[in-house]
Amino acid sequence: MSLPIILDCDPGTDDALALFLALGSPELNVLAVTVAGGNVGLDRTLPNALALVGLTGAAVPVFAGADRPLLGAFTSETAVHGNDGLGGVVLPPGGVAEAEHAADAIRRILRTATQPVVLVGIGPATNIALALATEPAILANVAQIVLMAGAWGEGNATPAAEFNALSDPEALAIVLRCGRPVVLATLEIAAQALCTASHLAAWRASGNGRCLTAACDIQGSVPFSRRLGGTGAALYDPVALAWLVQPSLFETRPASVEVDLGPGPSRGRTIVDRWGRTGAPANATVLERIDAAGFFALLTERFNWLP
Ligand code: RIB
Ligand code: CA
Repeated sequence: MSLPIILDCDPGTDDALALFLALGSPELNVLAVTVAGGNVGLDRTLPNALALVGLTGAAVPVFAGADRPLLGAFTSETAVHGNDGLGGVVLPPGGVAEAEHAADAIRRILRTATQPVVLVGIGPATNIALALATEPAILANVAQIVLMAGAWGEGNATPAAEFNALSDPEALAIVLRCGRPVVLATLEIAAQALCTASHLAAWRASGNGRCLTAACDIQGSVPFSRRLGGTGAALYDPVALAWLVQPSLFETRPASVEVDLGPGPSRGRTIVDRWGRTGAPANATVLERIDAAGFFALLTERFNWLP
């Protein structure tokens, strides 16, 4: 029985590979793809999501959502994802987005769900927060919420904050406090499975499907991370999806997680209490260890299952 999910994203190079993993995995039933501004503006993330879904041939509706955070100004990350959000890789245009707003679609799908649905957030959490905050009753139909967000150490957007958390800290706080099980894929778990030149070469040698080729071209455009030693690029969003597809790849730890909502230099920092020092009850399950070889084997297999 496949797991029904709603995938909220901001494509985004790593979002692209996460979308391919989700749509190439029969363990998941992607009910909807919802899109926010994030890595680049919504004017780019939306057509990117449509093109990526279109490339897979999956009949999954795509919904446009928030183009800015709940509070504060919109910030992008074009240095990593390029001005177009896909590293300059041009894909055939996808279909047309649905008329319904992403937050409305999330509420409607949850309201009418016949079984609990997993919410997956791999961009700023604005759309998910808008849906949950404006109709709390739908929480009853949320099985779990899986987020790529936060870090227990150094940030990647600022010294203190991970990009998705910094992009909309209030939205992340709303989701962390919603009372449903939250699973966090932080910067640290992705750092254990860097995509290197040899991984890319192995992917290219593994097949020649259009989605595999696009994944390699897109990932090949991503600069290696100086913060992570310059030997590879982290696959932040695919790690979050891999938790749902193959949870046996992971070791986890319950933890209390709070977000710094202040205006200062630590805004958007996630305070992950891995050792229970605050005495606060755990409100999240943090992905702590990953089987990197198994993760790449999964990606290779699932990219090749796509057209
Ligand atoms: O910090 C990494 C996260 O921010 C990823 O989701 C990436 O796509 C960006 O959205
Ligand atoms: Ca993302």
